Parts: sequence; C-alpha cells; structure tokens
Amino acid sequence: MSEVSHRIVADLLFARTGQQLTANRRWRIDTALAGLFRERGISNLDQLVCLLADPREEGLTLEVVEALLNNETYFFRDRIMFDLLANEVLPDLAAKRADTKRLSIWSAGCSTGQEALSLAMLFADQPQRWQGWRIDILGTDISSRAIEAARGGVYTQFEIQRGLGVSQMLRWFNESADGWRPRAELRRSIRFQQRNVLDAPPDPGRFDLVLCRNVLLYFAAANRHKAFGRLAEATAHDGWLMIGAGETVTGQSEAFAPACNTSGLYKRVAPLLPPSLRAAGGR
Ligand SMILES: C[S@@+](CC[C@H](N)C(=O)[O-])C[C@H]1O[C@@H](n2cnc3c(N)ncnc32)[C@H](O)[C@@H]1O
Repeated sequence: MSEVSHRIVADLLFARTGQQLTANRRWRIDTALAGLFRERGISNLDQLVCLLADPREEGLTLEVVEALLNNETYFFRDRIMFDLLANEVLPDLAAKRADTKRLSIWSAGCSTGQEALSLAMLFADQPQRWQGWRIDILGTDISSRAIEAARGGVYTQFEIQRGLGVSQMLRWFNESADGWRPRAELRRSIRFQQRNVLDAPPDPGRFDLVLCRNVLLYFAAANRHKAFGRLAEATAHDGWLMIGAGETVTGQSEAFAPACNTSGLYKRVAPLLPPSLRAAGGR
C-alpha cells in the first residue's frame, strides 16, 4: 500500500484534530481502519483515499478520523493523580471558593466519561464537606462517538472493573440489562459536549480546575502550544491544571507553573510583565 496514501490519511487526522501520526507510527492506520474497511467493503488504503477525495464522502471522512483517535481511558486512571486532587487541589479550592461555594471543572479530552465520573466520585465520597456546594463538571472530547457513549453512560462489565474497586462499583453504579449506569447523584453534576481543545474554550477564565490528560501527547509542537494557550484561557487566575503523568508543560507554556513537585500538576500563573515594562519599573 502506498506511502502516499498513509501520508494523506495522517494529514487528514492532523488537519481535523491536531494529532500527529509521524512516519514511525503510521502502522496504526492499518490496524485502526481494519474494522471500517470490513464494514464499508473497502479493500485497501489506496481505495479509501480515492473515496475521501469525493466531497460527498464527508461522513466517511468523519468515520476515518473517529477510528484513528485513541479513546483509551479508565476510572481513576493514574490513581496517584486523583489522590493529589483529593489531598491538595480540592482542599485548596474549597478554601479559595468558600464564599461562593461553586466549583467548575473541565475534563478536556474526556473520552467516554470515566475521568469526569471519577471526579464526581471524589466529591460524592465526601458529602458533608461539599454539602451546599454547586459542582459543575464539563467533559468534552472531539470524538462524537466518545461523547455519545459518555452521555449514554452505560459501561460494560470490563469497563466498570477497570480502575474501580468492587465497593465503589456497587456504591455508585446500578447494574441494568445493558450494563452499569452511574447513579443520578454522580450524573447530576456532569455535562458532556463535543469540542476540539484547539478551539476557543467553553467558558474563559471560569474553570477552577482543568484536566487535559493523555490528550496532547501526539500533538505537533505548534498545536500543543496552542492547546495550552486555550487551557490557560479557560483556567481561573488562581486555578489548577492537571495533565498526564508522562506529559509536561515545561517549555510549552508560561501560563502554568509546576506544583507540589509532582509531574502533571500545575498552577495557573499571572503572565510575566513584558521586558519593556520591567525595564520601566527599574527592575
Ligand atoms: C487517550 S484518551 C484520554 C482520556 C482521558 N483524558 C484519560 O486520560 O483517561 C485521549 C482523548 O483525547 C481526545 N482528543 C484527541 N484530540 C483532541 C482534540 N483536538 N480535542 C479534543 N479531544 C481530543 C480523543 O478523542 C480521546 O478521547
């Protein structure tokens, strides 16, 4: 199969999502699209690329992009990060927002909703502490399929067991004929929207905590920089950012500073004065 076709499909993914499939990762294309080929009776990548050239095939284009996205997620992924949220971040925000008793959290790149639900469980596990508070959790993802699944809120036995202990599972989920559904107390605080993290943020400056974990790993440098800019726009001036344990903001954005000596957790910082103003102030 032609190298050109692989490059065209990689370019499509890049243009629509910011995700970069460098030459050494293009093998993913064949594996990820195998199911789509079977469903649509497409025999190979060259044929797919011919079909994609037809502007009437926008539906197929969207399916290709969906199939290439990596939606891997599970409840309390990297549990140590959720311990940090419970022990450092939420107590800090509880003190800072004691007057309004409102917290807004954005899970950007939330996939099928497990991250947003894990956050909701942190609050639900401490009903007395959060009594009288309004907690809003917004989960967004570029994948319409993932957002549809998140809104549907039904998890298979396999999904429900990934990251959740039996007692948590029984406490916060009900088993139904089609799978496990989160209880209303959890769902109440969560909304899901389809959204590209590279677009203008949902509610600038409002989010006390933003999570964007395992989303920007394969972004090209310029897009990653842009995405951090968007996350900074969304975060309150004294808010927090959490990214994946293996990711870093260092060298990519000056809007966040590392917190707690822990990789993955950052505080929003005020923009530095431009050099011209610093000189005028005599420093
Ligand atoms: C590997 S999952 C991570 C899910 C969750 N944050 C976690 O850590 O478990 C990455 C998610 O990012 C989403 N994504 C990729 N590019 C995106 C973009 N430009 N805007 C929003 N979401 C994007 C994918 O659809 C996918 O669901």
